[in-house]
Amino acid sequence: MIRYLAKVVPRCSRRILVLFLFIVLILIIHKLKKFDEYVSKDEERLDSKLLKNPNGKSELSIKDNRTVSVKREGDDKNPINSEDSLKSKTDGNSTGRRNIAQIPIDVRIKKLPGAVLIGVQKCGTGALKTFLNLHPNIRVARAEPHFFDWKIDHNATFEGEMKRYLKLLPRAFPNETVLEKTPEYFDMIDPFDLFRMNPALKLILLVCDPVRRTISAYLHNIYIGMYSKHKSFEEYVFDKDGEVIPTAEVVRRSIYDEPLKRHLKYFPRKQFLIMENTFLLQKPTLAMQEIEKFLEIPKFYTNETFYFNEKIGYYCINPSIKPVNSGCQAKYKYRVHPNVSEENLLKLRRFFQPNNDNFIKLVGNSMPSLKYFP
Ligand SMILES: *[C@@H]1O[C@H](CO)[C@@H](O)[C@H](O)[C@H]1NC(C)=O
Ligand SMILES: *[C@@H]1O[C@H](CO)[C@@H](O)[C@H](O)[C@H]1NC(C)=O
Ligand SMILES: *[C@@H]1O[C@H](CO)[C@@H](O)[C@H](O)[C@H]1NC(C)=O
Ligand SMILES: *[C@@H]1O[C@H](CO)[C@@H](O)[C@H](O)[C@H]1NC(C)=O
Ligand SMILES: *[C@@H]1O[C@H](CO)[C@@H](O)[C@H](O)[C@H]1NC(C)=O
Ligand SMILES: *[C@@H]1O[C@H](CO)[C@@H](O)[C@H](O)[C@H]1NC(C)=O
Repeated sequence: MIRYLAKVVPRCSRRILVLFLFIVLILIIHKLKKFDEYVSKDEERLDSKLLKNPNGKSELSIKDNRTVSVKREGDDKNPINSEDSLKSKTDGNSTGRRNIAQIPIDVRIKKLPGAVLIGVQKCGTGALKTFLNLHPNIRVARAEPHFFDWKIDHNATFEGEMKRYLKLLPRAFPNETVLEKTPEYFDMIDPFDLFRMNPALKLILLVCDPVRRTISAYLHNIYIGMYSKHKSFEEYVFDKDGEVIPTAEVVRRSIYDEPLKRHLKYFPRKQFLIMENTFLLQKPTLAMQEIEKFLEIPKFYTNETFYFNEKIGYYCINPSIKPVNSGCQAKYKYRVHPNVSEENLLKLRRFFQPNNDNFIKLVGNSMPSLKYFP
């Protein structure tokens, strides 16, 4: 067969053939990837009749006596938010019995986030993201986009950058709020970028005891290979004289007042939901209901959403809602903390106290897990 081809097809067109096959392969891979994104959240919920064309256009046809076909051009800047506008874009003859509005149409579009989970790193943002992902009116970006902390190019136009940002976000229905989580947004960005992305943005900030956070971050940094597992917590956090090193990464990122102040320069306080992770861990239903109210989305979370897992000592998502891993976080998320002496813990608490006090003042709520000394 190949020999036959070799005889018939001249050398140069063989090259073209190979190139052509290569392009086809790329297109197939691209299509598969897009499909993966499409089914990412809720395969079970999406109508299987929904057909998707990966070029940002949606297309649906129903083979019937007459063929109804609906086409819509996807356009990031002109979100179609009502069925009325869809009807006007429809070229079908709607005098028939089938109402166009009853036909499932893929109206998902790319849109900028309405809410961002900005941090704090190691304060349970992963769990919160998983919980938020259950809500039918929230569309969560799967990975951490890390756009504003390292992908953004400040030399390029902001509008162009927003187009690049949209590529990292999932497509969402008009009734869904897009939400992304990047814990570095709290302390490692210029909040002005978030502000000009969406001045009405809602910011969710989960905080936790800075001392516990410092220890968690130390374990995390070992896990990601940034810290050596042969160096103790104390070696990273205390200097030769036993004083806390303020510039140590794990210490610096446990300081909450300064980053919050930077965000408050642009966003009014009412656009923040600031919550202690102890509340989320101990009363997940109440915590999620509070977040629902803040995001102004319909009620979804109930006492049945979570159950207390005696084995690990944390609440997990009811397996009937999320069967994966019994609805719990991955095992490594529940790391055993190293033993740190009482004396060193006290030193750390003393170190963080002024920043905590200042933070609580900025927040305006009491924050029991940040209050060490009465
Ligand atoms: C068209 O619809 C009519 C009534 O619903 C039905 O009787 C007929 O078989 C259909 N024709 C085709 C080709 O599907
Ligand atoms: C729609 O279909 C009906 C019956 O088939 C026809 O009488 C009418 O002219 C059509 N309308 C348009 C706008 O094509
Ligand atoms: C959101 O809209 C889509 C498409 O219109 C619909 O399938 C889905 O059920 C809606 N979700 C909610 C929670 O209303
Ligand atoms: C952006 O522009 C500044 C000065 O115009 C230049 O120094 C810098 O290297 C540029 N950065 C990038 C990423 O191009
Ligand atoms: C949910 O649980 C809390 C405490 O566990 C209880 O006070 C509340 O009444 C429960 N709500 C419902 C609707 O069952
Ligand atoms: C901490 O100390 C206790 C008792 O001193 C010991 O049982 C435990 O294994 C230690 N934990 C770690 C992580 O070293």
